[in-house]
Amino acid sequence: MEAFFEANRTNWDERVAIHLKDATGVYRLAEFRAGIDTLHPIEAAEIGDIEGKRLVHLQCHFGKDTLTLARRGAVCTGLDFSPAAIAAARTLSAEVGVPARFVEGNVYDAPALIGERFDIVYVTWGAINWLPDLKRWAQVVADLLVPGGRFYLVESHPSILPFEQVEGVIRPHYDRRTPADRPLATDEQTSYTGAAETIRSTRTYEWIHPISDILNALIGAGLRLDFLNEHEELPYRLYPCMVPTGTGGMYRLPDGMPRLALSFSLQATKA
Ligand SMILES: C[S@@+](CC[C@H](N)C(=O)[O-])C[C@H]1O[C@@H](n2cnc3c(N)ncnc32)[C@H](O)[C@@H]1O
Repeated sequence: MEAFFEANRTNWDERVAIHLKDATGVYRLAEFRAGIDTLHPIEAAEIGDIEGKRLVHLQCHFGKDTLTLARRGAVCTGLDFSPAAIAAARTLSAEVGVPARFVEGNVYDAPALIGERFDIVYVTWGAINWLPDLKRWAQVVADLLVPGGRFYLVESHPSILPFEQVEGVIRPHYDRRTPADRPLATDEQTSYTGAAETIRSTRTYEWIHPISDILNALIGAGLRLDFLNEHEELPYRLYPCMVPTGTGGMYRLPDGMPRLALSFSLQATKA
């Protein structure tokens, strides 16, 4: 797995500088710097009252959402394995005057690296696709929570991830479950934000996890499901045909196409 993680980390290190420029406005950094809450509408509506809660944000990238959660009153820790992301997060925290702790390391090492337990574990958009082993991941989530603590997750819906749009047609392209030792290898010259700047370390490795694997991993780690919601929007253009919803940087399928679940969110509580 180390070779896969190393390739992914190198790729993410490069993306940080591109994302910080926010040339296409996907990260809404100008609004964030102006003090505006830039959480996407789904998590903004579902995360609830976090005032005074100890919260850990796993795979926090350059920390914009971690700092947004801190502005909402949580005492935040962010973790990411990209040194460039963690350095940028610390700089952003100082720049906007919002304190948070940022820890560099692999998700799978998070409990040992962080050494604390939390009221909330928070994971959003484009996180679990970088992880080969969901049972170990769910155990990490459980280990980071205090008893009664809650886990919040919002992600792309696994039922649409096997599909690709090729020559205008959306059709099945990948298996619905990716074996841990045979990840999907991709070479992309640019990032999903649509910025023109190119990446040198193009190779990445990802995994598709069915919803049953996600839920069973969490249940197996001792978490109890509070809710599972499905949504017809995503914060990125998974297929070229997708159109902006007009709210919060989200995208939906165009008019005339069947309405499909494009994302899901859940909350689970540690017994
Ligand atoms: C799409 S971003 C997640 C964005 C996040 N929702 C946010 O708040 O901006 C994916 C992040 O996962 C991180 N990552 C990928 N694999 C990881 C791993 N095994 N351990 C820790 N971080 C990882 C990457 O460095 C990247 O910052």
